[in-house]
Amino acid sequence: MTTRSALEITGGRPLTGEVAVHAAKNSALYLILASLLTDEPLVVEGVPRLSDVLVGLEILEHAGVEVAWIGPDVHLRAREIRDISAPYRLVSKMRASFVVMGALLGRAGEARISMPGGCAFGPRPVDRHLKAFAALGVEVADDNGDFVARRRRPLAGRVVFEAPTVGGTQNVLLATALGGGAVEIENAALEPEVADLADLLNLMGARIEGAGTPFVHVQGVDRLHGGRFRPIPDRIEAGTFMLATAATRGDVTLRGLRPDHLQAVRDKLTEAGVRIVDIARDAWRIDATGELTGVDVTAVEYPGIPTDLQAPFGAFLATVPGVSVVRDRVYPDRFTHVTELQRMGARLELTDRTLVVRGGALTGAETHAADLRAGGALVVAALAADGRSRVTGVESIDRGYERFAERLRAVGATIERVEVPSPATGSEVGSAADAPSAGAGASSGTMSGPPGPGAAAGSPSDAPLVRSSSPLN
Ligand code: EPU
Repeated sequence: MTTRSALEITGGRPLTGEVAVHAAKNSALYLILASLLTDEPLVVEGVPRLSDVLVGLEILEHAGVEVAWIGPDVHLRAREIRDISAPYRLVSKMRASFVVMGALLGRAGEARISMPGGCAFGPRPVDRHLKAFAALGVEVADDNGDFVARRRRPLAGRVVFEAPTVGGTQNVLLATALGGGAVEIENAALEPEVADLADLLNLMGARIEGAGTPFVHVQGVDRLHGGRFRPIPDRIEAGTFMLATAATRGDVTLRGLRPDHLQAVRDKLTEAGVRIVDIARDAWRIDATGELTGVDVTAVEYPGIPTDLQAPFGAFLATVPGVSVVRDRVYPDRFTHVTELQRMGARLELTDRTLVVRGGALTGAETHAADLRAGGALVVAALAADGRSRVTGVESIDRGYERFAERLRAVGATIERVEVPSPATGSEVGSAADAPSAGAGASSGTMSGPPGPGAAAGSPSDAPLVRSSSPLN
């Protein structure tokens, strides 16, 4: 019998307690790529064990980087670049892999990357990355579905992004920090993950100014050295926990967040009637026990409400009496969750890329997450819905929410990760580990604990790429 993982959730219970926010997936994914720019060891601390991160590490290993997990830290060392390609098998799983092009160009002067894949929620082109590289003098050719990029001289010049792109900006930083001349970037993405990468590169000896603003200046240097760096907290994970708390009318304290990265989310939830109290420099209490009202939400670039929280916001608003309107200006078609929420009784109307939400009670149902943040939304809705829900497509959720079920259980949710037969084979249900699927396979067994030092059987650290447990120096 073939099986697949599912989350079984009995909703309708307010979340209460404390959650610690983990490091940002969308930062860690790029920080690990910086290892390609030095032959010295780089340690990225507290890396979330998510399937996307595991794919990123496999791409690095393919290039010749030595990779070792020591507890929650990833130790990386690229003594030499063995292979300048990122194969389709890996790149097709994750769009962020395209950014390895910049890092390989920076270190080796050439790269061969397949057309990227990733979450399926509408067109996600890479034209702005390619135009930026062309503006700096990179030659890019299309060879049988691979992009082959070459640098024949130090990269220098001016990149003007026609519209901001997070990955595009990071690609240019990685391509130009090492071995380049003077580079100006205009209309750079403002997302904190860009500034985080620049901070790491500067720690390694790069000369990057202005990251986190629209104008970034890079002065290439001849050598970068290793270092140790901790990514920023995951603002999307934090936002999802905030919305789950709000949807269940709960009262949860979030610790380890960056308040400045979540201001727009806080303002919008406050407008909806959620009370958010600063209880420490990096901790908020989210109190959603008062009366709530519908609000209009438009996802835009940072510092606005992130597109990655648009779907979870919609799920929350589906529980709030009144009419709300949701739009996404970054990914205008990112609405794969809508039909799934409708199965739970949500009154949603999607016309011309505008979602009108008439909030009310939700009831448990069987749903499927077609992409990561749709999965976040379905879990938020299921936690609030009366009765039992099942969310399949857990492999999408594993891309971005680390030990989601386990951490939600710690704040009072009734949620289990189970193995269910694949559609063709019937309907028995059994228990399984709350672990990312990449490499670890779908095992049945007990819930995994937090990653301990080295690899432990049955835990997320079981993934085949985890080979060494001694520092690389
Ligand atoms: N775009 C183009 N051409 C390009 C690049 C982007 O048209 O060459 C468009 C995109 O289609 C989109 C917009 O520009 O409409 C912004 O895309 P961006 O390049 O900024 O997104 P990304 O770098 O591919 C990252 C995150 C996404 C997040 C977006 C927006 C990572 C690994 N991914 O993607 O996160 O939605 O920024 O903030 O950092 C997720 O975590 O679920 C996720 C999808």
